[in-house]
Amino acid sequence: MGSSEERVVAVIMVGGPTKGTRFRPLSLNIPKPLFPLAGQPMVHHPISACKKIPNLAQIYLIGFYEEREFAIYVSSISNELRIPVRYLKEDKPHGSAGGLYNFRDLLMEDSPSHIFLLNCDVCCSFPLPEMLEAHRRYGGMGTILVSKVSAETASEFGELVADPETNELLHYTEKPETFVSDRINCGVYVFTPDIFNAIQGVSTQRKDRANLRRVSSFEALQPVNRSLPTDFVRLDQDILTPLAGKKQLYTYETMDFWEQIKTPGMSLKCSGLYLAQYSSTSPHLLASGDGSKTATISGDVYIHPSAKVHPTAKIGPNVSISANARIGSGARLISCIILDDVDIKENAVVIHAIVGWKSSIGRWSRVQGVGDYNTKLGITILGESVSVEDEVVVINSIVLPNKTLNVSVQEEILL
Ligand code: GDD
Repeated sequence: MGSSEERVVAVIMVGGPTKGTRFRPLSLNIPKPLFPLAGQPMVHHPISACKKIPNLAQIYLIGFYEEREFAIYVSSISNELRIPVRYLKEDKPHGSAGGLYNFRDLLMEDSPSHIFLLNCDVCCSFPLPEMLEAHRRYGGMGTILVSKVSAETASEFGELVADPETNELLHYTEKPETFVSDRINCGVYVFTPDIFNAIQGVSTQRKDRANLRRVSSFEALQPVNRSLPTDFVRLDQDILTPLAGKKQLYTYETMDFWEQIKTPGMSLKCSGLYLAQYSSTSPHLLASGDGSKTATISGDVYIHPSAKVHPTAKIGPNVSISANARIGSGARLISCIILDDVDIKENAVVIHAIVGWKSSIGRWSRVQGVGDYNTKLGITILGESVSVEDEVVVINSIVLPNKTLNVSVQEEILL
């Protein structure tokens, strides 16, 4: 255990508008980190996990979205958790390590002994106190949360090899073309403040190379040198790869669930994972009902207190219903996210779908996906203010905002 004097800060990297393009059309009117999963903004899940870190002084969100987009959320979550949460805006993308370095003076104001760094677009149980304990035992500069994935999907992530005895990181390759390992980087780290020296080292090396470039035509021809600004530092390629095998970085493997949230399909899957987690962490957030006075609830379901669900509707499993939504009599909802102000009329069916803000689904209509979270048309997505008229069937499709559908569609992207 660390001393009670030691303070810890947590940083969550939220990226910016140019980063969330795979999340369209859902990121068209809300920053991806604020998209609701299991009824709470995506970033809320890592933030509330940080609350369990002993001696936590501050939580910072670093991104290049406009400050006003996070202002309301940041002030409400600070009050709720009674921990200061601040949004820090980068003037431009500095990369996952460069963004951290950019605010080093501010982050060091609390003289933290440790700094947690979390990607906001990962879904897991965030075993942060356990990581910190392991990190202290290892005595290195950083500890990385690691998970085992299938060999087929490993190449989508940073693949790594660790010493089975000491857990030291021995080898690290970012999204390699040929298979290295089924152990991957989960995007959750704890560092000592020495991380800032390591980032500064990369930046200084780049500056030196840039100076050299002015005098050497050979250096100028190297594509890697031409493309990266000196203050743009990536945690994975620029820090983890060169420091592997140098007794500075260690790994902590989670046996719990872990997923990355890059697409709407994955957000639906992760909403289900967080709902399942509520049964042990926040059971009060899960709805119940047997159809007598309230709707019939099956499995894990979140219903915002302001939503109106008819008692003859049947909801679940994996359903999340946001503020002011109205669910009519006889409606059936399975595996879906229903966003604010949606109107689902009598006897409509919604399965494996995300229904955008202020959309409406007519009587006896059906909005459905096949339920493959990893393919583009594996779930049906309705953007904001889409109107599906009565008795219309929408299957495996993406509908962009403000469309009215009066005929049935299948496997289509409607612009
Ligand atoms: N503030 C800020 N500024 N955030 C950034 C920036 C930046 O310039 N660049 C990326 N981020 C944020 C993203 O929003 C995301 O939360 C996180 O940093 C990592 O994003 P990427 O650098 O785009 O990497 P990735 O998500 O494709 O892969 C990383 O995470 C995987 C785990 O989810 C890598 O570290 C992989 O190795 C890892 O497996």
